[in-house]
Amino acid sequence: MKIGIGNDHVAVEMKTIIKQYIEETYGYEVINYGTDSTERFNYPISGYKVAKAVASHEVDKGIVICGTGGGISMAANKVKGIRCILCSEPYTAKLSREHNNTNMLAFGARVVGQELAKMIVDAWLTGEYEGGRHQIRIDMISEIEETQNLEAAK
Ligand code: RB5
Repeated sequence: MKIGIGNDHVAVEMKTIIKQYIEETYGYEVINYGTDSTERFNYPISGYKVAKAVASHEVDKGIVICGTGGGISMAANKVKGIRCILCSEPYTAKLSREHNNTNMLAFGARVVGQELAKMIVDAWLTGEYEGGRHQIRIDMISEIEETQNLEAAK
């Protein structure tokens, strides 16, 4: 399993801790697409880079972190095929895998502490997509993305 990780200047320490945590706990390869400098860095750059890596299957899943997780998740979700969930607790992280088949996780380095962030990452990495009734809803999201339209809403 390959995980892409990205961050802005606010989340350098959190990115480093989470990268090391995933490598040591799961043995996954974690590829860094973010900045390692605390100089101002525009979060859409790393949000986009990780999202492109996920969408092109260069990596299996992506994790992005900025101050709130808001901006970087919005940037990631603009890339076709990306379903990025912004989480500040593990329940949403787990359900986002089971129901929404998320391929990216975002959280805020200014919002969650390091131990809570690890719990969110654990819930997300171990959650498995359930398929079934959830697929029709994901297909609807894809339809909106593809066509800027949704037949079922007419
Ligand atoms: C940077 O100041 C901050 O705006 C960024 O880390 C993030 O919170 C944006 O959504």
